Parts: sequence; C-alpha cells; structure tokens
Amino acid sequence: MSNNDLAIIILAAGKGTRLKSSLAKVLHRAGGRTLIEQIVRACEPLKARETVVVVGHQAEQVAAVVEPLGAVTVLQQPQNGTGHAMNVAKRALGRAKYAVVLPGDAPLVRTETLKVLAAAHRSGNAAATILSAVLADPSGYGRVVRKTETAVSAIVEESQLTEEEREINEINSAIYCFTLEKLWPALAQVKPNNRHRELYLTDAIAVLNSKGETVLAQVAADAREVLGCNTRVDLAEVDRVFRERKRNALMDDGVTIQLPETVLIDPEVTAGEDTILEPAVQLLGKTKIGARCTIRTGSVLTDAILGDDVTVEPHCVVAQSRLDDRVIIGPFARLRPDNHVKAGARIGNFVELKKSTIGEGTKAMHLSYLGDAKIGTKSNIGAGTITCNYDGFHKYPTSIGNKVFVGSDTTLVAPVRLGDGAYVAAGSTITENVPADALGVARGRQVNKPRWAAKKRRELAAAEKPRKASSKRKPRRASKKRKR
Ligand code: UD1
Ligand code: MG
Repeated sequence: MSNNDLAIIILAAGKGTRLKSSLAKVLHRAGGRTLIEQIVRACEPLKARETVVVVGHQAEQVAAVVEPLGAVTVLQQPQNGTGHAMNVAKRALGRAKYAVVLPGDAPLVRTETLKVLAAAHRSGNAAATILSAVLADPSGYGRVVRKTETAVSAIVEESQLTEEEREINEINSAIYCFTLEKLWPALAQVKPNNRHRELYLTDAIAVLNSKGETVLAQVAADAREVLGCNTRVDLAEVDRVFRERKRNALMDDGVTIQLPETVLIDPEVTAGEDTILEPAVQLLGKTKIGARCTIRTGSVLTDAILGDDVTVEPHCVVAQSRLDDRVIIGPFARLRPDNHVKAGARIGNFVELKKSTIGEGTKAMHLSYLGDAKIGTKSNIGAGTITCNYDGFHKYPTSIGNKVFVGSDTTLVAPVRLGDGAYVAAGSTITENVPADALGVARGRQVNKPRWAAKKRRELAAAEKPRKASSKRKPRRASKKRKR
C-alpha cells in the first residue's frame, strides 16, 4: 500500500551536546548503523510520498547518509528547537495531508509500530497522535498529560514539570502523526517560553487542545522501542537492543548462539541452519556464513564469505576473504583482505594470509606468512614458511603448484615459482624457480666434527677452575656490613 497523502519528517539537525562528541548525534552508531540510517530504514516500508530530513550539525555528512536512501534534506541553521525544525521542514514538503514526525535519536522504533500509529491517527480523526510509552524511570523525557483516558491536553518537558506532573510515567517518544493543516497554525502560536529560548514542537500539543482539536496518544507495546539516545549510556542501551534483535532473528533461522549476549552481529550478516556461534564472536559488515559452520570463541569476521561446514577455531581474525566448504582455520589465524581458501584446505595457528589463494586440500598449519601467493591443490606448506613478497618498493607474487611440499622454515623470495610436485628442503632460502618434481635446496651443507663438543667442554672446564678457587678465598663480608 502506498501512502500518497503521507510524508515522513525526521528531525536530525541537533548537535547532541549531552554525548560530548565532535560527531553529530545522529551520526553515532547503534546496531551497526548510524542512528539516522536506522530511522530512515524503519520508515522506508511506509512508502510515504516523501521523506524530509532536517539537517544542521554536520549537515553534509548526514545528507550523505540519507540521500542515497531516497530522502531529501533541508537545512536548519541555527537550530532553534524541534518546533523551529518543523517550520524549516515545511519548506521542503509537497502536498501531503499527514506527516509522521520522528526525532533522529530514537532509532529502535519498528515499522509496524509506525503503521499502527498512522492508522490510529486516521481512524481517530485526530489533529495529532503521539506515540507514548510507559517507563519505570521517565526522567529526561517530556511527559504526556491526559485530560481523559483517551485524549491528551499537553506535553510538558522535564524542565517545566510541576511536582504533580513529575509523577507521570507516560512519556513522549517525540514520534507523532500530525494532520498538517491543523499543525501549522498551532505551531505558529507557539512561543519560545523556556530556558533555551527554543521553539518546542511539544508545545503545539497544548495549543491544539485549546483549539478543541483531538490529540491522541498511542502507547507503544514495547517501551524499549522509543528509547532516545541523549547520552553514551543511552547509546549503549540502544545498541544492546538492536544486537539482541539481530541475534534473535538468526536464532529463529536455525543458528545456535551460545551466551548470546556476548555475540555481536551486524545487521546485514546472514548464517545458515545449524551453524554454531560460540561466545564472544563478532560477525561484522556483509559477512555471509553457510550451513553447519562453527565459529569458535573470540573470532572476528568482517565481510567474510563462508561456505558450508567451515570451522573457524578460536581467536581468528578474518577480513574480506572467502572460505569454501569444509575449510578449517585457526586457532589464531589472521586472514587480511582478499584471500580465497578453497574447499577442504586448512590454515593453522599463527598463519597470516594476504591476497592469497589456497587450493583445495592444501595445508599451511603453523607459523607462516603467505602474501600475494597462489597455491594449488593438496600442497603442504611447512611450519615457518614465509613468502618474502616485498622488497621495500614493490610487492611480488609467489606461485606454488599442486602437490608441492615446502619444508619447514623456508623463505620464498618473490617473484618465484614452484612447479607441480616440487619439493623444497627445510630451511631453504629459495630465490630461483623450482621446476616441477624437482628438489630445491638452498642452505649450507652440514658438517659433523667428531668429538668436537667433548673437547670444547674440557677446555671450558679447565679455564673455569682457577677462577672458582680464587672466588672461594674471598668471603663476601662487605655486603653484609652494608645491610646494617
Ligand atoms: C525530545 C522531546 C521530548 C521527548 C524526547 C524523546 C522536544 C522539545 N522534546 O526531547 O518531549 O520526550 O525528545 O526522546 O521536542 N532537533 C532538530 N533541531 C533542533 C532541535 C532538535 O533537528 O533545533 C532534533 C535533534 O537532532 C533530535 C530531535 O530533534 O534528533 C530531538 O531533539 P533532542 O534535543 O534530542 O530532544 P530531547 O531533549 O530528547
Ligand atoms: Mg533526544
């Protein structure tokens, strides 16, 4: 259903002084996105005729977030309050009859709740319908003053509460639906009667009431949906709720999450059935995980693409890399961007990969750096193998074929190529290509000197004797005296 008579107005010009930040409030992040992006996305399914975002502080950066999502922006400069912000928004509005108005700092609101609000407004024939919530601790919020069970007489800001009103625990979420032809004249009568000399949108409610217009308040089913982000503590709480929603959605899709409250998952992440996430895992960016994978504790995956049956052992860091079916990595593996680890391959502890392709069934199990390397299938990369891919000026590739055996502690000075079936002796520094099926050995030849060690020990013992005898003759009284 398209809502051709409806506009969305998001007030996002404020600085957010209480966050104590150089970043505008709506550009702070919760649940893996900026606050303003979360709100615009929640409004999208309403299919309003237009979405107007009032910008002020760091207007360009805010516009850069919302304009690609289809919103238009209008500049409020200076920021003289939420009522003033609405007057600024009016300039950019087309011919909508109704507007859903939201603050830029209450990102948890759900599309469904906004739909219910708009429907209640229409069916109640109201001039304004407020989304309210009942909170155990209403401090910091404007309070909804009701004159009857259904109708509202005013919203009173925290700073202007009487003792009696302070007891009210129904708060204004700052999310409303307005009938615009009724709102504008009421807003015109509002005066900046407060300490900050700002024009408060909330004061328009009392004006509407005094004109005999209908003002309703719809109580949100879940009070957590209206949490505002005025402080860092609020931000943390809002982030927590978003993260919980995401984890619950994945669990509903068949993913097991152990100690879920310790697991952080970004909104665009997907995971297949019977995948297990152990405690303290982070799945970030556009990470996509197949079915039956296990991501073990302490691992952080960013923009990673995993096939099915992949195991990520504890404490791995993976960025922008692909792991195909049945791959096992870690513990303590680090995959920097642009790797492709093919089916059944294994990357072990303290192995770092960068821009490398690891062929099917290939193993690099211990203590290696493989950068700009292309490795074929079923090869074995010994412990401590290093690709020397950088000469201080440029990066060079290493190419390793199929069924290659690279002995431990090999350095491969790139550019260099090991042919299929080649064998590299442990401890080699390979500077030239090794042909297919050849042995490459590049190290000093071993020489054994018979009885050398025994002779050396005798010499050392003889040199030690006189020294020991002379040290016995001098008792170390001096140090004892010094102690007193
Ligand atoms: C506001 C409400 C309060 C409500 C609370 C819910 C007012 C006067 N008060 O208070 O009743 O309980 O939200 O979270 O509206 N903004 C502008 N231009 C301005 C001032 C603000 O665009 O000149 C924007 C801010 O960027 C913010 C939103 O309006 O996104 C709300 O402003 P904020 O300062 O957070 O108001 P609260 O004190 O939270
Ligand atoms: Mg606020």
